[in-house]
Amino acid sequence: MLNRLEEQAPDALLALIKLFTADERADKIDLGVGVYKTADGATPVFEAIKGAEQRLVDTQDSKSYLGPEGDLGFVNGLIPHIFGDAASDDGRMDGMQTPGGTGAVRLALALAQKGGVTRVLMGTPSWPNHAQILGDLSLELVAFDHANSDGTANMDGLRSALANAGEGDAILLHGCCHNPTGVDYTPAEWDEIAALLKDSPVIPIIDLAYQGLGQGMDEDAYGLRTVMAAVPEVMVAYSCDKNFGMYRDRVGAFYVQTADAETTSRAISNASALARASWSMPPDHGGAAIRIILEDAGLTQRWLDELTSMRERIGEVRSTLAASGTAGSVDLTPLGKQRGMFAMLPVSKEQVQQLRKDHAVYMAGSGRINVAGLTLGNIDAFVAALTDVTG
Ligand code: LMR
Repeated sequence: MLNRLEEQAPDALLALIKLFTADERADKIDLGVGVYKTADGATPVFEAIKGAEQRLVDTQDSKSYLGPEGDLGFVNGLIPHIFGDAASDDGRMDGMQTPGGTGAVRLALALAQKGGVTRVLMGTPSWPNHAQILGDLSLELVAFDHANSDGTANMDGLRSALANAGEGDAILLHGCCHNPTGVDYTPAEWDEIAALLKDSPVIPIIDLAYQGLGQGMDEDAYGLRTVMAAVPEVMVAYSCDKNFGMYRDRVGAFYVQTADAETTSRAISNASALARASWSMPPDHGGAAIRIILEDAGLTQRWLDELTSMRERIGEVRSTLAASGTAGSVDLTPLGKQRGMFAMLPVSKEQVQQLRKDHAVYMAGSGRINVAGLTLGNIDAFVAALTDVTG
């Protein structure tokens, strides 16, 4: 029976990890998967995480089951950082731990579907796994263009997508650091989005996977908090992959806000049932380590300081790239205005291949680069390679 299955192509982004590792050229540059690198090109474990993990080893007295909602100390500890003053304490909002941000996106979409959603509006290009999860759940993707060619967000596309939507529709929005374009909504645009959603039956699902890596913890949550204040029902998919550096430990959280505590409790009971049927319960270790950080003021400050230095380094790389002006036919100046780890370069698939073959520069076939893969040591080589291939 299984011999009827058709071969699937490996995930294009994840395949880059293997290709890059296998390349023996010493000057290779990894701009593929979204992993933060220091100025030395390393991806170290956060010091705050190391401290928390040590404490976990010393104090954990059992690895017995928790439950489908995972570590609620972790889930609740994140709330003030994510939601700030927008967090309601009247039972209208609740959350649970998930295996990474991917688990949270999947859970939000599956719950929306259980509640009657059949179509999901989404600005494209988007993180490729968004469309993959929608396809896997047989949800219809209603795409609109996310960005204008001048590097601003395409508000007209979003307005018309919402104007043509109705009951049974959800909209999937990136909270900050848009992946792959780096084009975020401005606070004024978020204000408008919140006002449009207020008058619409479309339920927002906000994917917040890079909080703290754009402009700051509060600034990066502006859109999410503004939408939550405007509409009764919102779902949030949160990832700790990047802002706690927990990539392989798979740490994420799902939050839901509804009009009343009773509906929220029912929503969480359904989410728990979906989780149980899928992954049963999330892996504990990473969430427990983050809980320990969030319970300790000193470790929390260390984490926030580490995050600040990452954000500042990404900003420096962006300004250096923008200051290069053009590289061949590629205008790098918009990168100075964009946020987060990613940017889309107007290069063809052939040029991406040539960058890899001739210059050992690895980037996604879509033209996306991970800005955080560049350092002051390799940025000139990257700009020269881009100039060579596109000039
Ligand atoms: C990325 O977009 O590179 C990251 O979010 C990693 C992933 O899982 O795709």
